[in-house]
Amino acid sequence: MGYQAEHRKSIENPEDFWGKQAEEIDWFEFPKTILSQDSNQSYRWFEGGKLNTSYLALDHHINSGRAEQAALIYDSPVTGQQQTFTYLELRDAVARFAGVLKNHGVVKGDRVIVYMPMIPQAIIAMLASARLGAIHSVVFGGFAPNELAVRIDDARPKLLVTASCGIEVQKVIPYKPLVDEAIQKSNFPPEKVLVLQRPQVTADMKDGRDLDWETELSSANPTEPVPVDSWDPLYILYTSGTTGLPKGVVRDNGGHAVAMRYSMKTIYNAKPGDVYWAASDVGWVVGHSYIVYAPLLHGCTTVVYEGKPVKTPDPGAFWRMIEEHQINHFFTAPTAFRAVRKEDPDAEFLKKYDISSLKGLFLAGERLDPPTYDWLQNILDIPITDHWWQTETGWAIAGNPMGLEPHQPKSGSATLPSPGYNVTVLDEEGFEVSKNTQGNIAIKLPLPPSCLPTLWGDHDRFKASYLDQFPGYYSTSDGGYIDEDGYVFVMGRTDDNINVAGHRLSTGEMEELIGSHAAVAECAVVGIDDELRGQVPVGFVVLKDGVTAEPESIEQDLILLIRQEIGAVAYFRQAAIVARLPKTRSGKILRKTIRRLAVETDVPVPPTIDDPKIMTELLDAMQSKGIGQFSK
Ligand code: COA
Ligand code: AMP
Repeated sequence: MGYQAEHRKSIENPEDFWGKQAEEIDWFEFPKTILSQDSNQSYRWFEGGKLNTSYLALDHHINSGRAEQAALIYDSPVTGQQQTFTYLELRDAVARFAGVLKNHGVVKGDRVIVYMPMIPQAIIAMLASARLGAIHSVVFGGFAPNELAVRIDDARPKLLVTASCGIEVQKVIPYKPLVDEAIQKSNFPPEKVLVLQRPQVTADMKDGRDLDWETELSSANPTEPVPVDSWDPLYILYTSGTTGLPKGVVRDNGGHAVAMRYSMKTIYNAKPGDVYWAASDVGWVVGHSYIVYAPLLHGCTTVVYEGKPVKTPDPGAFWRMIEEHQINHFFTAPTAFRAVRKEDPDAEFLKKYDISSLKGLFLAGERLDPPTYDWLQNILDIPITDHWWQTETGWAIAGNPMGLEPHQPKSGSATLPSPGYNVTVLDEEGFEVSKNTQGNIAIKLPLPPSCLPTLWGDHDRFKASYLDQFPGYYSTSDGGYIDEDGYVFVMGRTDDNINVAGHRLSTGEMEELIGSHAAVAECAVVGIDDELRGQVPVGFVVLKDGVTAEPESIEQDLILLIRQEIGAVAYFRQAAIVARLPKTRSGKILRKTIRRLAVETDVPVPPTIDDPKIMTELLDAMQSKGIGQFSK
């Protein structure tokens, strides 16, 4: 079946379509109903199905002859280590670690927080949690204690799993002090903290609460997978909302397993046995779906890379990995290749490696900007696929269906809606716009399997965030258009989320933090275009009357505040002190105008601004600080 027919079928008869896809996984009990609605009126997939995601990712393949195939390759240029786990070895490690969790009282439905660097034990902890039917919540290791504390309080975990440190190029970052601080700040601390001691740092342990990974393993028994219902959550993954409270995206077991398998075939054209590498982090959705679950559910070999695109040790890192591990499918964020291109514009390092194993390159996390796409096209002779998705969906909303019917890509487009997604563009009133007209990208309900049915503990927020704006649709908060051939062009967020080096962050949260500073009267944080990172947050701050401190010292305070409260990944490095902010007559700050001023010349004065001088004041502030177009 070609793409058009497959997509049409998935929209016109979703039950039949996904019912067939569900037959591809090894359920303990096949679902009784394919599509139904729960007590919240959320659409749900595969009611009555019983399964275990860890069983499907590991035991199932051992039962079907893949016991000796590599399941996971760990490659860590920052420690000089490499390690391969066969499916049998990974299953045994997971089953035993599940025994540790069980010994400490973790049962189906309990939450387990995983705060770890990119090491195999992070994946083992996730799969062990899934094996018990517990719900893991992985927190990105680059987040500061406050972010971890907020997630602890929302998820209320029974247990937290961590490592003594992470390694960022040459910088060793002790994790345990961060965990201790987060627990101290939280109102619902975990009962136990399991710590993997790495050779680079020995973490201090708190008697009665902290447990040593190796000691605990030595007294644990392997544990069998616990059957769960399709609708039972597999994980909660927090993502940026519009406030300091992140949104706990809930992923269920059944829909997720079916969609992951389907995506491996349809979007990536990956075959069981292939080597699939997503150079991301398990703390992000790309890591959940395409480092951990999808490759393993599909019987592929997955790759865990503890390194960067550059500096570990050079911009040839990706090419070295592809040759050395015979990688067939590679997935990363455009920003990673912008970093490579910056250091190796003529791709000299590529010449040193044989990357003929590579069949496809996939990019997501932000729009694949045309200059990066052109550069990649010039240096590689394999298909390059931009695909668009969100933490909320867990897999591509739009992409090039490489396993179904590859389409001619168009620069700047994520290509076509994936089967299962009825994608449309709506104006502010909720009416469909015509082709090539920009608007709000929305998805007509029901969403396909794997997409979130709710937010953890807050269904009202789920409705308010995603469903209320356009009744009958899921609002993506991305703006863009669909062209005459049905290609989807995603142009950027319509809310205050920004994308910094492939990391989704909330400027609203940054504004809340900056607003808490004693000297600040009001502020706006906007995402300014950046050649390497896509966007970087910049603050525009009005001080309270009578503040005498030097602007430079206030700026440093604010930079430190964001670093301490959110983390270095926020990359908040500039705050301009200004006399006033542009606003509408009703007092709404015109953030879009500020953003445009930073990158464009001749920005028209918005009609709601009474005093046009405010535009010149802002431009002067940007120029003196070297912000956006004024940077050197
Ligand atoms: N733990 C602790 N700190 C971390 C971290 C982690 N996991 N990840 C990043 N940081 C820190 C860095 O050490 C750095 O700190 P510094 O300010 O003290 O130097 C800061 O956060 C910014 O890091 P980063 O944005 O990674 O900048 P970089 O210059 O080191 O690297 C890129 C730039 C583009 C190479 C890198 O951001 C990258 O690979 N991005 C791709 C992200 C990605 O895969 N996203 C998933 C979507 S597919
Ligand atoms: P996250 O939930 O962290 O994966 O971030 C999701 C957001 O990243 C989306 O809402 C988009 O704004 C952006 N994004 C991800 N992939 C793409 C893409 N291929 N093209 C354009 N924007 C993208």
